[in-house]
Amino acid sequence: MSRFTIPVCHVDDIDHESSKGFEIGDLNFFAVKRDGIITLFQNNCPHLGVNLEFQQDQFLDADNFYIMCSTHGALFQPEDGKCVYGPCQGQSLISVDFEVIEQQIHIAEAATAIA
Ligand code: FES
Repeated sequence: MSRFTIPVCHVDDIDHESSKGFEIGDLNFFAVKRDGIITLFQNNCPHLGVNLEFQQDQFLDADNFYIMCSTHGALFQPEDGKCVYGPCQGQSLISVDFEVIEQQIHIAEAATAIA
């Protein structure tokens, strides 16, 4: 049986070239869909540990190309979370593993309880 038992949302609930935030248990995270590929990351800037979004569900820059931290403008690659510009350049967002089961994104229960 899969360890990914916690449903998050349908893959179509995330618009193309867009992002969406979630809170499940202790896990504050967001999903990005760019070029049809979905990635999930913890909502935690490696610079100061703050939430990234400018406003609800707005994790991307004005071009919807990079993930952007609204505090100091760090830019992160949506494909792997690596910071390519800003005070935490070279560091990365923490990815959240997931599995798509019947078009629903699922995360592991263990991910929702941060030690
Ligand atoms: S807190 Fe994110 S770039 Fe400074």
